Amino acid sequence: MSDRAIDTLFLEERRYPPPAEFAAQANAQPGIYDVAAEEFWAREAQERVTWFEPFDAVLEWELPYAKWFTGGTLNVCFNCVDRHVEAGLGDRVAYFWEGEPEGDRRALTYADLQREVVRFANALKELGVEKGSHVALYLGMTPELAIAMLACTRIGAAHTVVFGGFSAESLSDRMNDFGATVLVTQDEAWRRGGTVPLKRISDEAMAAAPKVERCLVVRRTGGDVPMAAGRDTWYHELDVSDDPSTCPCEPMDAEDLLFLMYTSGTTAKPKGIMHTTAGYLVGVAASHSYIFDLKPESDVFWCSADIGWITGHSYIVYGPLCNAATSVLFEGTPDFPDKDRWWDVVERYGVTILYTAPTAIRSHMKWGPEYAERHDLSSLRLLGSVGEPINPEAWVWYHEHIGGGRCPVVDTWWQTETGMVLITPLPGITTLKPGSATKPFPTVEAGVIDEAGNEVGPGGGGYLVIKSPWPAMTRGIYGDDARFRETYWTRAPGLYFAGDGARIDRDGDFWLLGRVDDVMNVSGHRISTIEVESALVDHPNVAEAAVCGRADATTGQAIVAYVTVKGGVDPTVELMAELRNHVAAKIGPIAKPANVVFTPELPKTRSGKIMRRLLRDVAENRPLGDTTTLADPAVVSEIADRASEAPAED
Ligand code: WTA
Repeated sequence: MSDRAIDTLFLEERRYPPPAEFAAQANAQPGIYDVAAEEFWAREAQERVTWFEPFDAVLEWELPYAKWFTGGTLNVCFNCVDRHVEAGLGDRVAYFWEGEPEGDRRALTYADLQREVVRFANALKELGVEKGSHVALYLGMTPELAIAMLACTRIGAAHTVVFGGFSAESLSDRMNDFGATVLVTQDEAWRRGGTVPLKRISDEAMAAAPKVERCLVVRRTGGDVPMAAGRDTWYHELDVSDDPSTCPCEPMDAEDLLFLMYTSGTTAKPKGIMHTTAGYLVGVAASHSYIFDLKPESDVFWCSADIGWITGHSYIVYGPLCNAATSVLFEGTPDFPDKDRWWDVVERYGVTILYTAPTAIRSHMKWGPEYAERHDLSSLRLLGSVGEPINPEAWVWYHEHIGGGRCPVVDTWWQTETGMVLITPLPGITTLKPGSATKPFPTVEAGVIDEAGNEVGPGGGGYLVIKSPWPAMTRGIYGDDARFRETYWTRAPGLYFAGDGARIDRDGDFWLLGRVDDVMNVSGHRISTIEVESALVDHPNVAEAAVCGRADATTGQAIVAYVTVKGGVDPTVELMAELRNHVAAKIGPIAKPANVVFTPELPKTRSGKIMRRLLRDVAENRPLGDTTTLADPAVVSEIADRASEAPAED
């Protein structure tokens, strides 16, 4: 973010104290900040989770690896499903599922969910899945995705969910890194009235992932897909029991691997972020309850993220189900068939808590409030935001036009690596400021440091760090201890470096300023500049490429690619389109550059390093600073000229 944008943030003077009525009934009461960390988490672990064997120690901390609740054994599926049925909550709806085609709906109670999960777990067993197996899941937003995750945890298999928008190559890379032996997918996914051929993409991915022996295919659209004999099995053709006694919940150690979630870093290879059983479950359940003020008997919670990202794992699946919540699961997009689809969903199910991303809010803002006005949104009582910094205008619009001016807005900062929200208001306690994520969650110690590792005082900008362990923190990068230490723990010894810039104001409130590394944030999705560059140079006509993010009013950032073509190649408009599509095919449509700028050379320092900062300045039309370290300063003005002429694609 530019200095001017930061200063504008600090001029934000609107304040929203907690409404008295909300405060009186809130799950979080002011004393919550006063409890010591281990005492707080020991209590949460005892109250929110059912243990097969109690834990001996709350925390063992050997920097940078934490172990929480060691000695304890538990099962995540038991905690999310079976125990609720045993407690008499079998008739409570776990998910209101709204399919993309209108009228395609299903309500799954906790009793339904138990039967479905048992059936799925038995199917996985038929395919040879057992405790310790590694299973990849590549599905759209169907109940079967959540069911498959729970089925894995029931039998003690670890999963990795790959977002359904990723390419075959992204899928095979992840399966290979994880060592997956079984893949679960579906025939096709609905996408804005069309279909995404998940099974065909899976076939291509499996051809490059030799360890995958079996593939379980869920039928969704009914489209015709090829099935390889001996490898592929239709889920609906397996005759397996849904009786819970046929598939008991496997006792797992607190620190057993629960799942990997791959995320982009500053190299071309995504990192497999590890999350383990007990700490993760306790962390997401507690944070879900306090931050969203969840009243499981009356609330209808809707997190609009995709389960293929960490937000969906923590706040569609594990947190809400552990808390016996009723959630909405939505397969579609906000503007299909029309731009009021979301508000129709809110009204239909009486959603009380809505959790979404600033990029979605800005799209709705652009379309105008009339779509929301067509519907009765009076059931809403709390709103949440996640994924990128929320600009005050979007915050205020959300508060007014969606929340009717009465719902607190919780702007929650966290990451794939943190597993749970770490910086957030607590509704009922915190005075809100549009654009600020306000305070660290109870027991979390966050700070802002400068280049030298010194704490920065109020108002100063710097790097966001977390100073002590929390239960849902990642247990490392799968198979790469050195990268884990280097990425997160070397900026300042002993502190977790998040990769984000931040400022703390005089009231101690945090203002997040975006990434400080080579990671872009496009519509709330993390995309590595280097990953996109590698995809571009993989094209036969490209000699060199440099990628950066530029500010975009709707998506937060948009991807700009500067490309030098090989000798004899014409830099045509057709080639631009081809390169965009090439990136989409290599990584996935979310990584498609908005602009491709052809340039005869890239700006490099005399030692040959590409000056990305300068490219960002060009992309955002900022005055160019000092270019004297450049090998050839004339390159920059040429690039600037071409960038101003380059067409953009939505
Ligand atoms: C950004 C998503 C500002 C941040 C849960 C972080 C945010 C990255 C916020 C993690 C927020 C997330 N305000 N920035 N409230 N929430 N971010 O791993 O840059 O997909 O590092 O996890 O998103 O993205 P990830």
